[in-house]
Amino acid sequence: MVPELAARDHLERLPALLDLALDKAGVKPADLHQLAVTRGPGLVGCLLVGVGVGEGLSAAWDKPITGVNHLWGHIYAAMLTRPDLEPPLLGLVVSGAHSDLVRMPAHGRFQVIGRTRDDAAGEAFDKAARMLGLGFPGGPALDRLARKGDPTRQPLPRPSLPGLEYSFSGLKTALLYRLRDLGETVTDQDRADLAAAFEQSVVESLLEKLDHALDQAPTEEVVVAGGVAANTLLRRRAAEVVAGRARLTMPSLELCTDNAAMIAAAGHHAPRQAADVDPSLGW
Ligand code: KG4
Ligand code: ZN
Repeated sequence: MVPELAARDHLERLPALLDLALDKAGVKPADLHQLAVTRGPGLVGCLLVGVGVGEGLSAAWDKPITGVNHLWGHIYAAMLTRPDLEPPLLGLVVSGAHSDLVRMPAHGRFQVIGRTRDDAAGEAFDKAARMLGLGFPGGPALDRLARKGDPTRQPLPRPSLPGLEYSFSGLKTALLYRLRDLGETVTDQDRADLAAAFEQSVVESLLEKLDHALDQAPTEEVVVAGGVAANTLLRRRAAEVVAGRARLTMPSLELCTDNAAMIAAAGHHAPRQAADVDPSLGW
């Protein structure tokens, strides 16, 4: 992805996209109460375009505007899927750039208790998919391929760090070496088996720490969200791990991947960031 080109693309597409969204929702600017715009984390150029357009609309339409943290948006997507869901909750946000375990004691308050030391889960899926000859973004393609594989035929190591930290770079290297060893002899079934093994290692690692966090401080509500939360195995295994201990909410598939509805939801529920939030953690 070329940041400059992505920013220009945002600028070119946003006006028509806004018209389309208002049209599809059947609302006029006068019907709106508030505007919400992603303020980060993300590509700076793209964020600047969004904030610029948002501020322009706020002035033109005379509506208040709120800057929303993208990662908060992923958690609030769960509240669009289940409107009665309220904090306190334990959250796992897994996206292309983050694998974060957070406690959310109240609206607009997040405490990061675990994160990755190197690659994020989505990044690991995308890189593994590229090694397996799949396109970008690789996560969904790897998910489909893994359904045809058996994770026990080509087992890969399960990353395990102490505490609530993640690491996926060693697993990625293990896949690289396995593919190198197989060389020209690699079959389609090998690729499917490796996709299944890779997926299993990432998913079990993600859930092992969620399981620990739930043991450390039991909570009634658990949210697993972000692009990777669309993964078939993660959805099934998360339900099994959380069952009987808390209620699990995962956003519907279309609300897992980045979307604007989740930013609106976060802007609605948590219009202001608490003063004690540490911005260096990205939250
Ligand atoms: O949250 P998101 O849409 O964008 C970011 O904020 O990064 O997450 C995108 C990530 C990508 O790495 C993509 O490959 C991954 O989510 N992803 C998946 C699946 N669908 C999307 N990973 C595994 N299985 C999926 N079904
Ligand atoms: Zn995201």
